[in-house]
Amino acid sequence: MDINCSEKERFVFEKIARAAAALGTQAYLIGGFVRDKLIGRPTKDADIVCAGDGIALARKVAENLSPKPAVAWFKNFGTAQIKWNDWEIEFVGARKESYRDESRKPDVEPGTIEDDQLRRDFTINAMAISLNDADYGTLIDPFDGRSDLEKKLIRTPLDPLRTFSDDPLRMLRAIRFATQLGFSIVDPAIKAITEDAHRIKIVSQERITDELNKIIMTAKPSVGFDLLYKTGLLKIIFPQMVDLAGAEYVDGMGHKDNFYHTLQVLDNIVPNTDDLWLRWAAILHDIGKPATKKFEQGHGWTFHGHEVVGSRMVPKIFNKLKLPLNEKMKFVQKLVEYHLRPISLTKENITDSAIRRLLFDAGDDIDALMTLCEADITSKNKIKVRRYLDNFELVRQRLKEVEDKDRIRNWQPPVTGELIMATFNLPPGRIVGEIKNAIREAILDGEIENNYDAASAFMLKKAAELGLPAPRS
Ligand code: CTP
Repeated sequence: MDINCSEKERFVFEKIARAAAALGTQAYLIGGFVRDKLIGRPTKDADIVCAGDGIALARKVAENLSPKPAVAWFKNFGTAQIKWNDWEIEFVGARKESYRDESRKPDVEPGTIEDDQLRRDFTINAMAISLNDADYGTLIDPFDGRSDLEKKLIRTPLDPLRTFSDDPLRMLRAIRFATQLGFSIVDPAIKAITEDAHRIKIVSQERITDELNKIIMTAKPSVGFDLLYKTGLLKIIFPQMVDLAGAEYVDGMGHKDNFYHTLQVLDNIVPNTDDLWLRWAAILHDIGKPATKKFEQGHGWTFHGHEVVGSRMVPKIFNKLKLPLNEKMKFVQKLVEYHLRPISLTKENITDSAIRRLLFDAGDDIDALMTLCEADITSKNKIKVRRYLDNFELVRQRLKEVEDKDRIRNWQPPVTGELIMATFNLPPGRIVGEIKNAIREAILDGEIENNYDAASAFMLKKAAELGLPAPRS
């Protein structure tokens, strides 16, 4: 074999070869599996292309495996899939596309392996390994994908305009692969993407967002976002992020380019978290800046309230991108809203109550919030960065001390709304909320102790102030 395979892989490929021979057809391993084997990346699922009917081949292979896997098949696409020992293998009949002049949509019809390779997205994804007796294990690489792998290039087998027009998602895939693999996209392909970026509009939002998330989960997502920006794709799929770009000047005073700042924050957070949603919070932390930007004479550029405005923008963006509108979104909103809070705690003479308040508001998300805030330090001045990081370390220590002492994270005040209602024989309503809030505030401010007796005494005092009759004991 021209690629290194495990024993299990060899065993299955032999079975496929035998099944193909029995059916009198040819079968090839193709696509991502071959690419990843050649660059020594962990491989996932395998794709098999055959001359003829992919479903028939899958069935024949399944018959010869033990335990016999079920065959899932999709007649419309002529594809089938088997899952065997946690491994997914997809079978498809080789296809060719012919374009009729009057339609941009291609007719897909059965073809040879060469036809099939020609209609694939990139040279590095179009390599095949023969599973046929005559040349078993040989790499079939008509577009020199192997040398593109060595040169780290993303190139299309056909004229890029044609390859991208076949499936415009490929424009995003090119950028995603470049980011994941650390490859460059060849100039003609970049030019084609820039020219045809608007065609991304015909692709479903789910597929777009899937690629976006894959870019976000790479080791250096800024590379992908920069390419999305420069090719014009970002403006179409995520315009709010493009609004962050650029710097305005008044009286020679400018502000930083918030797009590139955001990309740096995103890259900064990557080594510290694999959580997609924390990475999304990094992307969105300053999203409210363009809407709140002002130039104040004698003061310079301000973005007052951008954290609140940004947090309110999150649901609309999640909705448009078809990201989940659930607790993940709420987490992102919360982090965007609170992203300035820890920095305000790096000043001197910070009281326990300010620390308690942050612990109470952030709850279990306090560590994520601190991670975001540290990533938000993007000064080029190393001494400044060191000073900020040291200050954050102090905040972390204070957070730990106060939490150890007061257990405020996930805390509920010791007197509940139910207890207030029962004590004063009140229906649910404004007064109950007012007493409850007053108790919570008094504890957070350190005015009273965090225990039942103190809270209960405070409740009676507050109720008297509000003119409620004393409860019968
Ligand atoms: N493919 C294509 N055009 C697309 C999607 C896929 O030509 N829009 C082809 C490529 O040959 C690709 C193969 O189908 O290698 C399998 O696609 P997919 O599983 O999406 O990608 P992989 O290359 O396997 O990579 P990954 O799993 O990282 O997405």
